[in-house]
Amino acid sequence: MYHIISIRDFERSDLDHLLDRAQEFDTGNYRPGLLDDKLLALLFFEPSTRTRMSFAAAMGRLGGKSISVDSVEASSIVKGETLADTIRVISSYVDAVVLRHPKEGAARLASEFTSVPVINAGDGAGQHPSQTLLDLYTIRQSMPIDGIDVGLLGDLRYGRTAHSLALALSLYDVTLHTVAPGGLEMPANITLELRERGMEVIEHPSVEEAIRELDVLYVTRIQRERFPDSASYYDVASSYRITTDLLDDVKERLMILHPLPRAGEIDPAVDCTPYARYFEQARNGVPVRMALLHEVMK
Ligand code: CP
Repeated sequence: MYHIISIRDFERSDLDHLLDRAQEFDTGNYRPGLLDDKLLALLFFEPSTRTRMSFAAAMGRLGGKSISVDSVEASSIVKGETLADTIRVISSYVDAVVLRHPKEGAARLASEFTSVPVINAGDGAGQHPSQTLLDLYTIRQSMPIDGIDVGLLGDLRYGRTAHSLALALSLYDVTLHTVAPGGLEMPANITLELRERGMEVIEHPSVEEAIRELDVLYVTRIQRERFPDSASYYDVASSYRITTDLLDDVKERLMILHPLPRAGEIDPAVDCTPYARYFEQARNGVPVRMALLHEVMK
């Protein structure tokens, strides 16, 4: 695989191969300096903590170096330069580009203007494939992915992590349970695509109804930045929250995941329960992105 743009471009064998490689990087089973002659560009036109830092950490762990643009304001895009021209130029400096952009489709577009690999680090409400890889990796560390029930809770309309993860899980034998505030349901075209791929998708009115069936509960925040105005955001803000009270009688192996950042939808008291796995999930970003970077630049 050359560009990493969408989970739709992956076969199950591609995912499994990358997860196996991530495991090797995680256990230190690799030769030091694998990418020591390589340079990575980190272009982040939307805020990021985990994705940006873990790509930089992964590159450093492999012996490579990174250069970055951290905002639109810090780039010549403010002078009117197009994304296509920006990518053409930057890709002549480096061996691969990691791009986060507010517009859906931006990473695909960028890949058409460069001869080096592009990794989509989030394109608007579209996809976030490297997040999905670390989500799958985190699940697979605890249980086989086949045969599990996964719940997606939150802003499934604008949440790119939910879109990517649902599509990836459809390559496994997974039953998907969705819970979303009114108006923030999974886009109908994605639900249709999941069902056409043979996945059972069950929509629930509340997390209380679904939680006892779940092996994994994947919580997402409401994507405030995608709302047309603050009034429509406040209509749905705080409409769900995971608290310790909700966790009575859940499956013993339930994992609560969240791509982070959280914005009130998981009570910090949940952090002390054995179900909370979101910090471990964030930590897994480094070995997974090591595998991804090595794959596209080796
Ligand atoms: N999960 C995730 O994409 O986090 P950041 O926005 O901090 O990169």
